[in-house]
Amino acid sequence: MAAKGKVGIIGSGLIGRGWAMLFAASGYEVCLFDILPEQVSGALDNIKMRLHDLQKAGLLRGSLTADEQFGLISGCSDFNAACQGALHIQECVPENLELKRKIFSQLDAVADDNVVLSSSTSCILPSKIFTGLKHVKQCIVAHPVNPPYYVPLVELIPHPETDPSTMDRTRALMVEIGQSPVSLKKEVDGFALNRIQYAIIAESWRLIQDGVMSPEDVDTVMSAGLGRRYAFIGPLEVMHLNAEGMKSYIERYGETMQRVLSTFGPIPDFSGPALEQVDTAMTSRTPSTPEALTERRRWRDARLTGLARLQSDMDNS
Ligand code: NAI
Repeated sequence: MAAKGKVGIIGSGLIGRGWAMLFAASGYEVCLFDILPEQVSGALDNIKMRLHDLQKAGLLRGSLTADEQFGLISGCSDFNAACQGALHIQECVPENLELKRKIFSQLDAVADDNVVLSSSTSCILPSKIFTGLKHVKQCIVAHPVNPPYYVPLVELIPHPETDPSTMDRTRALMVEIGQSPVSLKKEVDGFALNRIQYAIIAESWRLIQDGVMSPEDVDTVMSAGLGRRYAFIGPLEVMHLNAEGMKSYIERYGETMQRVLSTFGPIPDFSGPALEQVDTAMTSRTPSTPEALTERRRWRDARLTGLARLQSDMDNS
C-alpha cells in the first residue's frame, strides 16, 4: 500500500494523536515526534488501541483497516527525521508562545520551499509565532476542535504574509481528510470559535451571577435548545429559517435583539460566589477527578460519534 505523502507531527499529546489518526485514516504516512520518547511510545499504544476499538464499533474513518492505518504511523526520535520530506508539518506542543516560537524557528531551519508549516495553537496569533521566519509564506494556524476525530471543524488563520496558496492547500488537505475547514481572512484574537464560545459563556455566567437561572438549566438551554439546531445549521441560517428569510427576521426581531443586547452587562470576572455555584453544580454530576472526567468524556465522545454517524447517514440518504 503506497502512502499518499508524509505528514510530520511535532508533539504527541492529545491533539498530536488526534491529527495522526486523521491523516492516517486518509492514507498519509505520519511521523510522530515528541521531546519525550515515552510520549511517542505511549501515543502509539494509545492510537493502536483506539483504532481497533473504532474498527470493532464500525466507526473507523476511511477505507483502510485499523492495522493498515496503524502501519502508516511511526514514532520518530529525531526532529529532523520527522520533518524530512513532509508535505505538511503539524505542530502540537503545549500552548506556550516561547516554546512555539522555538519549534517554528527549528522548522524554519529544516523546511524546504514546499512544505506547509502549521500550528495547532488554540489562541496564539499567527503574527506572534511566525513573524520573521524565512518560510513565513508557508506558515498557517490550523486550529482543531477537541476531539478532532469526532468534531470536524478546523479554523485556518493566516499570518499577514502567508501565501494564499498555503491557505488553499491546507484547506484542500483538511477537506481531503474529512474535516470541515473555515478560513479567517485575517487574524483576530480568539479566532472565530472561541470568540463565539466566549460570548455564550459570558451570557451564561451573567444569568447565573444575576440569580436568573441555575447552572444546570443554563447548560440545558444549549444542550436541549440552541445546540440541537446548531448541530446542523449556524445562527445566521437559524435566523433565515425562523422568518420569511433574513430580511424578514431583521424586520420582525431586529429591534428586540438590540433591546436585549443593550441589557448585557460587563464582562464577568469568573470568580466569587458565581464560580462556587457553577463548580458545585458541575462537580455534583462529574467530580473533578481524573477517573470521573475520563468517564464523562467517554460518554461525550460516544454521543458525538453517534451524531457524526447520524449526520453522515442523513447526508448520504
Ligand atoms: P498535550 O500537553 O496533551 O501534548 C503536548 C505534547 O508536546 C506533549 O506530549 C509534550 O511532551 C510535547 N512537547 C513538549 N515540548 C516539546 C518540544 N519541544 N518538542 C516536541 N514535543 C514537545 O497538549 P495538547 O492538548 O495536545 O495541545 C497541543 C496544542 O494543541 C496546544 O497548542 C493546544 O492549545 C492546541 N489545542 C488543544 C486542544 C485541546 O482541547 N487539548 C484543542 C485544540 C487545540
